[in-house]
Amino acid sequence: MSSPESVLSIHSLHKNYGKICAVDSLSLEIKKGSVFGLLGPNGSGKSTTLGMVMDVVVPSSGSFTWFGETPNHQQRKRIGAILEKPNFYPKFSATKNLQLACKIKEVGEERIAQVLEQVGLSARAGYSFHTFSLGMKQRLAIASALLAQPEVLILDEPTNGLDPQGIAEIRQLIIDIAQSGKTIILASHLLDEVQKVCTEIAVLRQGKLIYTGKVNEGFGDEVMLEIASDDITALIQVMKVHPTYLSHRLHKGHIEVKCAKGAKSSELSKYLASHNIFPSHMAEHKKNLEQQFMEILSQNA
Ligand SMILES: Nc1ncnc2c1ncn2[C@@H]1O[C@H](COP(=O)(O)OP(=O)(O)OP(=O)(O)O)[C@@H](O)[C@H]1O
Ligand SMILES: [Mg+2]
Repeated sequence: MSSPESVLSIHSLHKNYGKICAVDSLSLEIKKGSVFGLLGPNGSGKSTTLGMVMDVVVPSSGSFTWFGETPNHQQRKRIGAILEKPNFYPKFSATKNLQLACKIKEVGEERIAQVLEQVGLSARAGYSFHTFSLGMKQRLAIASALLAQPEVLILDEPTNGLDPQGIAEIRQLIIDIAQSGKTIILASHLLDEVQKVCTEIAVLRQGKLIYTGKVNEGFGDEVMLEIASDDITALIQVMKVHPTYLSHRLHKGHIEVKCAKGAKSSELSKYLASHNIFPSHMAEHKKNLEQQFMEILSQNA
């Protein structure tokens, strides 16, 4: 049974398209309040997974529950989704398009001004959809998905095709929506996007779940430190006997040290000082998410 905090619980979900296995025994748990990133390269099964949980793709086998219940029509109102390209009437204004969406969703039209404000489109409310930039179109789609005040918002590649400013705006909008208490499920092939927006992550590869965890913990447990000192040899000797030391490499006048989880630069500074080493430079890097992602993909190949 899923816990009361469970928003979406997926159990051994499977989808075959002929010989292609698009989603392979996928099990996932998405908790209330998380910003959950479904990350994977093109063709890894992200959209198929979202399609299944939104009932637009029929699973080959497996099951899922929304809010701890078997899927039913009533739950749909609690979920807002943008799965494909926004589908609006080009000649109708933003307001007119949202009026139509209100009818379909059985929502009062007083919500229109509120959602347009929320996505920053109030000033363009009366303009035809075809005059909108891609980013505005995407914001209107998000506005439409928010009309019924859903608890969950599902977004499939929300920044596809946008320019850097449009990307930044949509990402900020997603973060704002998450802060208003909604659970967000976001599919993306962009590591950067997931890192900036999501709190939790699931990595898919060829339809299989190969990693799941919190984004801020990184994929791995290691801490990378860059340390420089006048006496590199002494620095290495002292670092090598620190309890968190794993390995190091020399790099243009400094060392890059790999330490185990929990290593902190503040603590290491004190440790080095207690051995009469006063680094001229010390920086902690989170291991690059892209490197970690590539490592995970290759480990599971
Ligand atoms: N309607 C379909 N008919 C046949 N094969 C399909 C269909 N939809 C998806 N597939 C296949 O299923 C696999 C997963 O596709 P899916 O679209 O779910 O991946 P994705 O992770 O969303 O990729 P992208 O990052 O490109 O959006 C791919 O091999 C794809 O070719
Ligand atoms: Mg997709």
